[in-house]
Amino acid sequence: MSPSKVRVNLTRVFVFILILTLGIILYQNRGKTLSASLTFSRSAIKSRTFTIDFTNDTFLMDGKPFKFVSGEFHYFRTPRPRWRDILRKIRAAGLNAVSTYVEWSSHEATPGGYNFGGDNDVEHFMTLAAKEGLYVLLRPGPFICGERDFGGLPPWLFKMKEDIRLRQNDPTYQHYIVKWYQELFTRLQKFMYGNGGPIIMVQIENEFGMHDQCDPQHAMWLRDLIKSYIYDTAVLYSIDPPHRRFQKCVIDGVYPSVDFGPFQNVTRGFKAQRLVAPHGPLLNAEFYTGWLTHWGERTMQFVPPEEVIKSLVQMLDMGANVNIYMFFGGTNFGFKNGANFDKKKGYLPTITSYDYDSPLDESGDPTDKYFAIQDVMKGYVTLPNIPVARSTMKKVFDTVFLTPTVSVFDAQLKPSPVMANSPLTFEQLGQNYGFVLYETVVTETPYCETCRLEVDNIKDRAQVFINEEFAGSIYRANSTDLVFNVTVNQTLSLFVENMGRINHDKIYDQKGILPMVLLDNEELLGWKMYKFPLDDVSSIELLQPTGNEKYPMFFTGVLINSKPMDTYLDMRNWTKGVVFVNGNNLGRYWSDMGPQYSLFLPSEFLKVGTNRITIFELERAPPNYAVKFSPQSLNKILYDDEE
Ligand SMILES: *[C@@H]1O[C@H](CO)[C@@H](O)[C@H](O)[C@H]1NC(C)=O
Ligand SMILES: *[C@@H]1O[C@H](CO)[C@@H](O)[C@H](O)[C@H]1NC(C)=O
Ligand SMILES: *[C@@H]1O[C@H](CO)[C@@H](O)[C@H](O)[C@H]1NC(C)=O
Ligand SMILES: *[C@@H]1O[C@H](CO)[C@@H](O)[C@H](O)[C@H]1NC(C)=O
Ligand SMILES: *[C@@H]1O[C@H](CO)[C@@H](O)[C@H](O)[C@H]1NC(C)=O
Ligand SMILES: *[C@@H]1O[C@H](CO)[C@@H](O)[C@H](O)[C@H]1NC(C)=O
Repeated sequence: MSPSKVRVNLTRVFVFILILTLGIILYQNRGKTLSASLTFSRSAIKSRTFTIDFTNDTFLMDGKPFKFVSGEFHYFRTPRPRWRDILRKIRAAGLNAVSTYVEWSSHEATPGGYNFGGDNDVEHFMTLAAKEGLYVLLRPGPFICGERDFGGLPPWLFKMKEDIRLRQNDPTYQHYIVKWYQELFTRLQKFMYGNGGPIIMVQIENEFGMHDQCDPQHAMWLRDLIKSYIYDTAVLYSIDPPHRRFQKCVIDGVYPSVDFGPFQNVTRGFKAQRLVAPHGPLLNAEFYTGWLTHWGERTMQFVPPEEVIKSLVQMLDMGANVNIYMFFGGTNFGFKNGANFDKKKGYLPTITSYDYDSPLDESGDPTDKYFAIQDVMKGYVTLPNIPVARSTMKKVFDTVFLTPTVSVFDAQLKPSPVMANSPLTFEQLGQNYGFVLYETVVTETPYCETCRLEVDNIKDRAQVFINEEFAGSIYRANSTDLVFNVTVNQTLSLFVENMGRINHDKIYDQKGILPMVLLDNEELLGWKMYKFPLDDVSSIELLQPTGNEKYPMFFTGVLINSKPMDTYLDMRNWTKGVVFVNGNNLGRYWSDMGPQYSLFLPSEFLKVGTNRITIFELERAPPNYAVKFSPQSLNKILYDDEE
C-alpha cells in the first residue's frame, strides 16, 4: 500500500476537470442536462476532492475529515419505480451513502447488446442517489458474486473461448471487460465525486483474495483500466474477509478494506485490516445484517437486531466507516439467482427472495431492525426529518383459478429442435437461462432388463421421461442416475433446468448435460434439443388449452383488479416452477423444498384491469389449480412459527 499513489495528483485532476467541464457544456448543449440534484456549480467542481488522509486515518472530503455509514442496495433487485423510496429510507435511517454492485450480465445480456434503460438505468440510479442526499460506493466487478448467476458475469463468455480463464489475465476475458467498461464508465464518469457527482468509492473486483488463483497482476490491470476513466475523482478500494490468507491480492493504489458481520470480533476484524492498511480509515465494507438462504435449508436465515446493533455501535465508536450489507435485499427476479458449492452438501442454489433479513424487507418495508439501526444512528448524526411508515399488510386479491394450457410435449409449443450427436450445453445452444428439453430415441436394444441411466454432470436438475411418461428425477445435489425399463424405439426425454450458476469459487458452471448420457454404460447419441428460455411467455399465454395434462406444463389465469398493490403469491400448494405476471418473471418457487413458500409480486408488475398470471409447473399443481394471495411473506412467518 503506497499512500502517495492514492493522493490526488492535482495537476492531472485540474486538466481533467477542464476537459470535463467542456464535455459537460457540450453535453448540455445537446439538449441533455445533468441532474439538477448534483447541487454544485461547475466552477465549484475543482474544489471537490475525495481522498484518504493517511496521517489522521480518515477519508477527506474537500480536505475535511469525512465518514460514511452506507447501505447496500442493488438496483437490479427491485423495479426502477421503487428505487427512490428505498434510497429515501436509507437516508431517513441516518445513513449518508448507498452501495451497489453493477451486474454485467444484466447490462450486456448478449455480446455488444448493451442495455442501460428501464431497470438497468444505472445513471438514473446515480441521479436519484444524489437527489436523496446519498454518496455512492460503486462496485462494478466485473465479477461481483452477489449471490447472482455466475457472479454477475455474462454466460456468453463461455462461448467466446472454450477454455476461457475467468478473473485472470486471459486476453479474451480482458477484451470483453475493456469493451464493457468503455460503455459503463463513459456513462458513470460524470457521477464521480471529483466530477460533481455522488460516487466517492469504486471497488476493484470483489473479494478477489478469496479466489484460489487470485493474481495481483490481474487486480493491477483492472485498477489501471478503471483509473483510465476516473483518474483521482474517487477512491479505489478492495474488500476481502479479515484473514491474512484472503489478503493476498492487495495492491498499490487500491485501499484495502475488510468485511465481517455480527458475531465476529470487531477488534480482530479491524486488526486484520491494519495488516494491509497500517494507516488510513477503518472500513468494514460489508457488515452483514442477515444472510442468504438456499433451497432446502430448514428456515430462512436470520440475525437478531440486537446482534447487528451491538457490533454497529462498537464500530461507530471506533470511528469506523461501515457499509451495511444488505440494507435492502430485494428479489432475484427471473432466473438470476446464483448458487454455492459446499464441500459436503454439494450444489446449493439460492432462493428467489433476497430478503436477507435486512432492515428493509423484500417489499421495502422497514422492520424492527431498521428502526433499531435508526435509533443507533441518532446517537451519531442528526437524523433528517423524513417520516417512514411502519410495515403495512399487502393486498389480498381474490383467489385466481388457473386453466391447464399446454405441456412442453405439445407440438404447438415445442420449438424446432437443434440436432447434434452429443448433447450441447445451454451456452453452446446460445440459451443462458431457463430450460432445455433433450430428447433421443433408444435405437439399440438395451441389454438390460432394468436400465441404469447415468448423467455424470447434470446441471442442474432433470425430469426424465420415457415416451413422455415420467420416470423420475435426477438432481445434481444428490443423485445423477436413475433406474427404469426402456425398450428399443422408445423416446427418452430429459427436461433440464438451469437452477443458477455458481457465484463463488467453482464458477466454471456451464449448464445442461455434460458431457454425455449413459444408458447401461452405452453412450446415447442423436439428440434433439428444444429450447425453453421462457424469456417471453406472451405467445404461450395466447395458446388454446390442449387438454393434455402432462407435466411440465403451463397454467394461465387472469387477475382483475382496480388498483395495483404489492402482494405475495401463496405457492404452498404448488410444487416446483416459475410464475409470470404480465410477462414479468417473479422467479422460482419450490414448495417441496422450502423454506421459501411465497413469491413477492410488486405493484409495478400489475395494472388496472386484466392481469395475466402464468404458472409453469414442473411436477404437480393443486387439484383446483388455484393460486391464493397472502398479506405477508410466508417465508419468514413459517420461521417465526417455529421460534
Ligand atoms: C490531522 O489532524 C490534526 C488535528 O485535527 C490537524 O492539525 C492536522 O492538520 C491533520 N493532518 C492532516 C495531514 O490533515
Ligand atoms: C476480541 O478480540 C480482542 C483482541 O483479540 C480481545 O481482546 C477481546 O477480548 C475480544 N472480544 C470478545 C468479545 O471476544
Ligand atoms: C434428492 O434430494 C431431494 C431433495 O433433498 C429429495 O427429495 C430426493 O428424494 C433426493 N433423492 C435422492 C435419490 O436422494
Ligand atoms: C422393469 O420391468 C420388470 C419386468 O416387467 C419389473 O419387474 C421391474 O419392476 C421393472 N423395473 C422398474 C424399475 O420399473
Ligand atoms: C424400431 O423402429 C424401426 C424404424 O421405425 C423399425 O424398423 C424397427 O422394426 C423398430 N424396432 C422395434 C423392435 O420395434
Ligand atoms: C391448499 O390446498 C388445500 C387442500 O385442497 C386447501 O384447503 C387450501 O386452501 C389450499 N391453500 C392454498 C394457499 O391454496
